[in-house]
Amino acid sequence: MGQTIRFGVSLDSTLLKQFDELCMKRGNPSRSEAIRDLIRQELVREEWENGAQPSAATLTLVFDHHRSDLAQKLTELQHESHESIVASMHVHLDHENCLEVLVLVGPAAQLRALADKLTAVKGVKHGELSLATTGDRLA
Ligand code: NI
Repeated sequence: MGQTIRFGVSLDSTLLKQFDELCMKRGNPSRSEAIRDLIRQELVREEWENGAQPSAATLTLVFDHHRSDLAQKLTELQHESHESIVASMHVHLDHENCLEVLVLVGPAAQLRALADKLTAVKGVKHGELSLATTGDRLA
């Protein structure tokens, strides 16, 4: 972390009012905190679009375990990419549906490709990749 620097921002009053309302709605304690969050979010997005830096993510999958070979196919694909998957959790959602959450670490582009591959397997009903960062690299 670097030192904290204060700087002024010129903003249209209507835009500032909308921003304050958004902060209130989201429970942000201050404008500064809200602006920091937005900056980090954009930097993470940029980092992910760039794709080469190591990143962390979670992938949530929902699938029907009654479909033949589906669970086996997902396990096989996960074993092929075991270096990117540092943890996984399996929940039997109901009689037919399973939910899996995978914690992924590696170059962003590689994680996105893995998520796309797992989500594309026939019978996967839902697949959502969520990007994560500590923000430390971005300071
Ligand atoms: Ni299950």
